[in-house]
Amino acid sequence: MNLLSLHPALRTLTSDYNCLKRQVQEFPFMLEKAIGEAKQEICQVISDVSSTNEELLRKYKREMNLRKKCHNELVRLKGNIRVFCRVRPVSQEEQDSADSKTMLSFDSEDDAVLYLCNKGKTMTFDLDKVFAPHATQEEVFQEVQSLVTSCIDGFNVCIFAYGQTGSGKTFTMEGVLDNPGINQRALRLLFSEVTDKLDWDYKSPSAWWRSTTRCCGTFWGKTPPISWTLS
Ligand SMILES: Nc1ncnc2c1ncn2[C@@H]1O[C@H](COP(=O)(O)OP(=O)(O)OP(=O)(O)O)[C@@H](O)[C@H]1O
Ligand SMILES: [Mg+2]
Repeated sequence: MNLLSLHPALRTLTSDYNCLKRQVQEFPFMLEKAIGEAKQEICQVISDVSSTNEELLRKYKREMNLRKKCHNELVRLKGNIRVFCRVRPVSQEEQDSADSKTMLSFDSEDDAVLYLCNKGKTMTFDLDKVFAPHATQEEVFQEVQSLVTSCIDGFNVCIFAYGQTGSGKTFTMEGVLDNPGINQRALRLLFSEVTDKLDWDYKSPSAWWRSTTRCCGTFWGKTPPISWTLS
């Protein structure tokens, strides 16, 4: 091959080389520019998302306050002090005894009235609600579960059972292993509601009292009552 024919090829190669060299020199600036533009786009998207979030949070808080107001109004209308009566099933022993002559009856029209017929005399009791013997633990709990919401809203709430021995206080409040009572159901609901609100800070000093003529103490130890924070 002759040297003269190589000359144009060398010129082309030199020009390609210079072009590539320029591109390589410009590459860092191009890269920096591209990164800068991408950053700007990302910042814009983040700012859009955060302003949407702020808006949603504002609406959520407004709705929460509205819900709280409505709930409190409902609780106030229902009455801050409510008395329920739960009639437990008659035991075999009672069926055979003279006490079985004492008869309880219910009003099919009004679930807040209870009639007690004893020795020919009928007494009427007006309560907030009467639970018949077939009422389940779930039904009883449903009637008080709104108090858990009040508790989360910061109100002091107290639920207690009162009655003579064997009337069903422990069954209603503690329940049995496969059919828990109000205590367990309320705590389960309380913890699940609170866990759902992870953006909230909760401190729940709670005490669970079992008070009879014989014993008096907190369920979770004497002092201090349980305290926990979620953030
Ligand atoms: N609603 C109910 N359904 C079925 N069984 C019930 C119900 N209520 C109470 N019982 C049963 O009646 C019995 C007495 O109930 P419980 O022990 O709850 O009474 P108590 O009021 O706690 O009595 P004490 O004051 O002596 O502790 C238990 O065997 C309990 O399982
Ligand atoms: Mg008991």
